[in-house]
Amino acid sequence: MPDKASATSPRETAIHCAGLDVFYGQGATRHHAVKQASFDVAKGESFGIVGGSGSGKSTILRVLAGLDGDWQGEVSVLGHRRATGSAPQRDYRLKVQMIFQDPFGSLHPRHTIDRCLSEAMRCHGFDRIEQRVVSALDRVGLGKSFRFRFPHQLSGGQRQRVAIARALVLEPEVLLLDEPTSALDASIQAEVLNLLQEVRRDLGTTFLFVSHDLGVIAHMCDRVAVMRQGEVVETLPASRITAGEVAHPYTRELLANCYAAQPVEFVQAV
Ligand SMILES: Nc1ncnc2c1ncn2[C@@H]1O[C@H](COP(=O)(O)OP(=O)(O)O)[C@@H](O)[C@H]1O
Ligand SMILES: [Mg+2]
Repeated sequence: MPDKASATSPRETAIHCAGLDVFYGQGATRHHAVKQASFDVAKGESFGIVGGSGSGKSTILRVLAGLDGDWQGEVSVLGHRRATGSAPQRDYRLKVQMIFQDPFGSLHPRHTIDRCLSEAMRCHGFDRIEQRVVSALDRVGLGKSFRFRFPHQLSGGQRQRVAIARALVLEPEVLLLDEPTSALDASIQAEVLNLLQEVRRDLGTTFLFVSHDLGVIAHMCDRVAVMRQGEVVETLPASRITAGEVAHPYTRELLANCYAAQPVEFVQAV
């Protein structure tokens, strides 16, 4: 199914996903988690995927990151066509970085922040590693005093800043963000969202931003795909969400829940 919204964008495509089906399990218990999902993301765009728990958002990100096997459809990122059953190339793994919801789970508990940031760079043959670590910690607002601390000595928000720094040292062109602030308190969430906005403004990174929270998605993204039970039910500009002009009844339901759960001031203050 062609993605109508992307046809309006003259920019180069960063992510192309057409007719994506993803399954978990085998035989009678095989579960069709993503059904015929299609969308395109332009270079430098921030594209959101919003939907309730279990709607297939993380599953799509995992396919794009090269983490999941049982899928079919057309998927390419930065011109690299992904093939079912094969791990992505080194260059792909460098240019496409993922940030997870739980920053504690994604950081090795016995490695210092310095080691955590340096190792991936070493693995990819970067030079000036120390300089890059310090500058990444500065960019995410932590500073070099954090270099030799361990994850358990940091707050949740600080750990998520480290996870962002770890992705940024590799100079990715695409960031896959899986509910990156859902585990954080509202005020810390706003700080981390602002940091991500700065990153995109300064570096021009393409974002694929997943959240169950329509307010966060509308604030962070240019366009949004709405998912329900494995299907993309609607793709629309975020401005239509903020204006309350949504077509699909499910999107309307999400919008009503969002404003019922969160005062509008919070959404604007993020
Ligand atoms: N590893 C897995 N094994 C089996 N089923 C899974 C697995 N991961 C996700 N699922 C199922 O796939 C569906 C989509 O999950 P997920 O992509 O995690 O949703 P979301 O991120 O939108 O909450 C859900 O029904 C979930 O239970
Ligand atoms: Mg998820």
